[in-house]
Amino acid sequence: MSFDIRPLSDAIGAEIIGLDAGQPLDDAVFAAIHKAHLDHQVLVFRGQSLTPRQQIDFSKRFGPLDAHPTQATNHPDGYPEILTVSTRTENGKDVGLRNAGPQWHSDLAYRERPALGSMLYALELPDSGGNTGFANMIAAYDALPAPLRNAIDGKRAIFSSKREGTERPHPAIRTHPETGAKSIFVNPQLTTGIEGMDDTDAAAPLADIYAHCAEERFIYWHCWEPGDLIFWDNRCVLHIADHSRLDDPTYIRHMHRTTIAGDVPY
Ligand SMILES: [Fe+2]
Repeated sequence: MSFDIRPLSDAIGAEIIGLDAGQPLDDAVFAAIHKAHLDHQVLVFRGQSLTPRQQIDFSKRFGPLDAHPTQATNHPDGYPEILTVSTRTENGKDVGLRNAGPQWHSDLAYRERPALGSMLYALELPDSGGNTGFANMIAAYDALPAPLRNAIDGKRAIFSSKREGTERPHPAIRTHPETGAKSIFVNPQLTTGIEGMDDTDAAAPLADIYAHCAEERFIYWHCWEPGDLIFWDNRCVLHIADHSRLDDPTYIRHMHRTTIAGDVPY
């Protein structure tokens, strides 16, 4: 199976053209994809046509999968590994997670073992809106002004989940377990403070760090095309969904997410 890898922006991301993620990958192809993922942090596999089972099998090549805490949004046909991200309703009820990722975040950062990566597959797209932003936290760390770096270097940030009712500290700056690259791990959706710091003292540096991380030079905005499957590295990437049309009943965005389990951050 031959395919092309084309960078999508100067900040982050590459598209993979000509690979069918629904077919078994031999070891050489897998190694090339794995390397491309480490090099670019976000991969967009174009032109896919995947059943839930095929998406699960492809995702599992990268590690064991996490089940999402929102059981009600799991795939209705008995695929607990598939999280439905959707604005569709049936009989007045949401069929999936409706307002997924309203702020910059890294998936499951509040778990003891936050997600290694997530794969999101577009099944139905709106005529406009619904883009996803991806921000390169390795580049953001490298460019972080010294006073902000000093404010969190060596400290642990608190991550909390209202859904799971948990709080957990992780290093505010983490080291990538495969590449050794350092990256900013705090995010405005799930980080609630810095361990050992008064919340009011932590608020100002965290706000400045979030503003820094959201600078355009670190970001690629993805405008989805039918058949796109995106695999991002939650260990060094923040993402956000543009749901500015969420209240528009004609805005239909229906996707399947799988989540690859990760390590304890250090
Ligand atoms: Fe997310």
